[in-house]
Amino acid sequence: MIIEPKIRHNVCVNAHPLGCAAQVMAQINYVKARDKVESPGRVVVIGASNGYGLAARIVSAFGSGASSIGVAYERPGTKSRLGTAGWYNIESFKREAHKEGFGAWNVNGDAFSEEVKAEVLELTRENLGAADFLVYSIAAPRRMDPRTGQLYSSVIKPIGEQFTSKTVDFLTGEVREVTADPATEQEIAHTVKVMGGEDWRVWIETLQRGGALAPNFLTIAFSYIGPDFTKPIYRDGTIGKAKKDLEENAAEINAHLAPLGGRAIISVNKALVTRASAVIPAVPLYISLLYKVMKERKLHEGCIQQMYRLYHDFLFTAGPPHADDMGRIRLDDWEMRQDVQQEIWKLWQQVTTENLDRISDIGGFREEFLRHHGFGMPGIDYSQEVEPDVF
Ligand code: NAI
Repeated sequence: MIIEPKIRHNVCVNAHPLGCAAQVMAQINYVKARDKVESPGRVVVIGASNGYGLAARIVSAFGSGASSIGVAYERPGTKSRLGTAGWYNIESFKREAHKEGFGAWNVNGDAFSEEVKAEVLELTRENLGAADFLVYSIAAPRRMDPRTGQLYSSVIKPIGEQFTSKTVDFLTGEVREVTADPATEQEIAHTVKVMGGEDWRVWIETLQRGGALAPNFLTIAFSYIGPDFTKPIYRDGTIGKAKKDLEENAAEINAHLAPLGGRAIISVNKALVTRASAVIPAVPLYISLLYKVMKERKLHEGCIQQMYRLYHDFLFTAGPPHADDMGRIRLDDWEMRQDVQQEIWKLWQQVTTENLDRISDIGGFREEFLRHHGFGMPGIDYSQEVEPDVF
């Protein structure tokens, strides 16, 4: 079939298998062209098919030759139906890792379930012996608690009062006002249940009980803070509440890991275009301005640049990792630089539908959004037929 992007309500609902493979290859090539990293050799990545998790796995394998188990929840391609972008990404990763002789096993299923945890424990014991490093990088809309069978859904809403802000429809380029109503107590609790740290802790406990954690085991999860003007919808909203819970869980996991000499770390990452960030009110407009300002200052990074810098400069470097006063790694250091934020705030106040193309990087936003689904990749002939079950 010939595959063109299909976008519904600002969500791209299909993917191009060869474009996704090219996008993974571009990340691999980025890492191969850089200095090696001295990172752990036996890695488990939860949320390994997209965004930060995929990039971390690529740095582990192609930056230091690690064997890895990757977990994701994706729809495989069949003879007649396209799979999701994440499916093509994670399968291309495996193919490329095997070509270089690195161990790579994929588990496609619900990471919140006991079955997937048991399968990963088994795979870890069988193939890695034990894990040295676990990256927890899930962005999920819902979670079924396996102990009770209850389904929880996350929402992105302010807490306490309504939030009104500028936003952009990134497809049409219309800048307008958006208002989000405050979350109910139940919505807050459910978002924490889905995106907070409970499941991260359960993963560590499961592997620890199963004897699959190596001495000096390290685990990391990703958080976000952002500027003051997105605070009501992000850091002080439902998702921020979940992120604070994730950060608090790091301390509890640390206590569990102490006897092993292990550690749990939070990295606060940069805002990037992903499936999720494209639908948060105000955030696409913020990211379009952020990209413009950071590209002008030659500070721009995508997922792979962020993850390479995390490994190379923060995690696996001589001496203790530099952390903020709450013990978090600040990979958002360039995003939050005072000159960068002041310039974004100035542009934020000026931006309208008419000047959007000129003063923001809305084009870069759209391009990256499409590339996440394998579209617009250099070197791919999109007029050619391609099989949906190519992997
Ligand atoms: P993403 O949407 O690109 O990737 C999410 C991954 O989670 C995919 O591999 C997906 O298959 C997997 N997943 C979702 N539900 C699952 C389930 N039930 N079972 C197994 N796997 C499941 O996400 P992204 O943007 O890379 O986010 C990863 C983490 O980084 C999240 O915690 C997010 O909050 C955080 N973060 C993201 C930032 C951004 O701007 N994108 C900024 C800072 C932190």
